Amino acid sequence: QQKYDKIAEIIDQYKNREGSLIQVLHMAQTVYGYLPMELLKFIAKRMDIPLSEVSGVSTFYPVFSMQPRGKHTIKVCMGTACYVRGGKKLVDRLENMLGIQVGETSEDRKYSLEVVRCLGACGLAPAMMIDETIYKQVNPDKLNSILAKY
Ligand code: FES
Repeated sequence: QQKYDKIAEIIDQYKNREGSLIQVLHMAQTVYGYLPMELLKFIAKRMDIPLSEVSGVSTFYPVFSMQPRGKHTIKVCMGTACYVRGGKKLVDRLENMLGIQVGETSEDRKYSLEVVRCLGACGLAPAMMIDETIYKQVNPDKLNSILAKY
């Protein structure tokens, strides 16, 4: 299975280390963008770990995605400061605009929507992040024009 050559190399490097499964999954997601079942099977086999364990770990941690992801990732902060200052409203509005729920990707594969615990901008809540850019004091009415930049 040549298409998984890269991850095979990584696995061979990490195989016998403590906590290696999580590390391998992280790298696999970085390399392939997401973790399709076929890839999980490959990892399980090559690491000699039951598939149930590999898929259990990848569904347990929200950072792992078993679906293809959108071109852009929107992360809305739901940490305490942002939550009390309207973070939930941002999530609701985005879910509506994109027609998806948190954890999903829009049909055109343009955006994936996630929530995070804190973006380190608590003083300027509510905050959200699109790819590497942080938006602070976001007003839900501004979301349209923010998304229009992408
Ligand atoms: Fe949202 Fe810290 S709680 S940035």
